[in-house]
Amino acid sequence: IGKKAYYFDSLDSTQSQAVKMSEDPINDGTIIIAAKQTEGKGRLGRKWISPKGGIWFSIILQPKFDISITTLFPIASSLALSYAIEKTFKITPELKWPNDLTIKGKKVAGMLVDVSLESNKIESLVLGVGINFDVDVKQIEKTLKGTPNFYGVVSLSEQKKKVKPRILVQTFLAELEKIYELLNTKQTKDIISEWTKRSSTIGKKVELNTIEGKIKGDAIKIDDDGALIVSEKNKTSKVIAGDIIYLSK
Ligand code: BTN
Repeated sequence: IGKKAYYFDSLDSTQSQAVKMSEDPINDGTIIIAAKQTEGKGRLGRKWISPKGGIWFSIILQPKFDISITTLFPIASSLALSYAIEKTFKITPELKWPNDLTIKGKKVAGMLVDVSLESNKIESLVLGVGINFDVDVKQIEKTLKGTPNFYGVVSLSEQKKKVKPRILVQTFLAELEKIYELLNTKQTKDIISEWTKRSSTIGKKVELNTIEGKIKGDAIKIDDDGALIVSEKNKTSKVIAGDIIYLSK
């Protein structure tokens, strides 16, 4: 992963660019990086503010694993990024379901995945990673205030240790490579237990916005496919996609 890289000073979105390139088998493992994005994309059709100073990239993958692993993939990738931040910055971000990384409850990184299927098999995956590396937090917060799922932003540069962006990206790619291999060989148990250890979600009371409406209850665990299991009284729900809008302390 990352043996071939394209770097842009500015791009509408590394994700759209990577998706366009993802069908060609030659691009398996390719990474597209931009210093800034003019139309960065977030999850669920939202905008992603991507000024200079952040780390914005997308990776094209043509995996061997089966379609059932697709929803676990972004969760596993956020675990890989938390390892990489831990190794380089010596701080351990928390993981907020489904795939946000937070420091003291504020968002430091997010991921999204675009999948292209061909007769029920994965043809390609594009993993988009946005890291608030050295960004103007106040400016971003001003722009995002009041938008859905906004809960505050934090920049890695606020942490004491100076780390080069390139080192963080390289460390992440190495961690992702390991996790990708685990997924390809169906070794998902450790990924789920490690994710759970670092999670700020499991064991809390949560409220979620989902396509089926609001769901409230105790976040019990994540399933083999990365879905969040929420239970209230005698009712248990399995949430595949959604946003946590409330999380108890
Ligand atoms: C989210 O938390 O909503 C996901 C954010 C993903 C942002 C990254 S930045 C690089 C890549 N290109 C995009 O347009 N989006 C992703």
